[in-house]
Amino acid sequence: MQKKINKIIKFKNKKKIVCLTAYSKPISKILDKYCDIILVGDSVATALYGMKNTKKIDLKTMLNHAISVKKSIKKSMLVFDMPYNTYYSENSAKQNIKKIIKYTKCDAVKIESNGKNYNLIKKIVKSGTPVMGHIGFTPQFKQKFKVQGLKIDEEKKLLNEASKIQEAGAFSIVLECISTKLAHKITKSLKIPTIGIGSSNLCDGQILVTDDLLGLSGFYPKFVKKYVNLQKIIDKAVKKFKKDVQEKKFPKKINSY
Ligand code: KIV
Repeated sequence: MQKKINKIIKFKNKKKIVCLTAYSKPISKILDKYCDIILVGDSVATALYGMKNTKKIDLKTMLNHAISVKKSIKKSMLVFDMPYNTYYSENSAKQNIKKIIKYTKCDAVKIESNGKNYNLIKKIVKSGTPVMGHIGFTPQFKQKFKVQGLKIDEEKKLLNEASKIQEAGAFSIVLECISTKLAHKITKSLKIPTIGIGSSNLCDGQILVTDDLLGLSGFYPKFVKKYVNLQKIIDKAVKKFKKDVQEKKFPKKINSY
């Protein structure tokens, strides 16, 4: 576990860190070839289950997705995103992390910052579980989307938050929707790598929700680049299947016993 963590930290200032989310074995099989980190994100709530926000997903569902993802991972680091309400106290975090590690064999957990949970991160790291921090637009704690760090007081607060998370022992920090200027400042100020999402290319690495980049989620804000339109490709395939069935072109002899 520690070997993988050290490798990620050493990437800082040398090589950009490639991260994506995965919720299933077939997708993680592909991602494992290209990613340094695979995150089982609580974004599964909105991307897959059509929930209104990420607060609704429960630990059991996330565990099942992580167990599936882990099956294909050979080389990348597996990070488990702690769902909302699973780390409200030291005790709850401890109990839930025990379960998470036991069932998923993940390498680390990600914890969203609420600007107060530094001591919790410190305790988790001390007990042997590596932690990835998460600041900026943190969906578990912030309701309305807003670019973060545009005002001087916000800038100070976020710089302090990043520094405190590093001090608590996190091995990396996700910067979500933070202004380019501030993302650069935070990245320069830290020894641990920053992983950006909507926070410019001045971070040490990048993460996106895979379903967004594949054009499957229907969620395409400015910071998402849709690399392929899978929705369109699947639509075409299913339409063709319908036509073949109705015109008795499928199944053929070759598809039959
Ligand atoms: O849940 C998730 O996918 C995330 C990433 C967007 C960082 O937290």
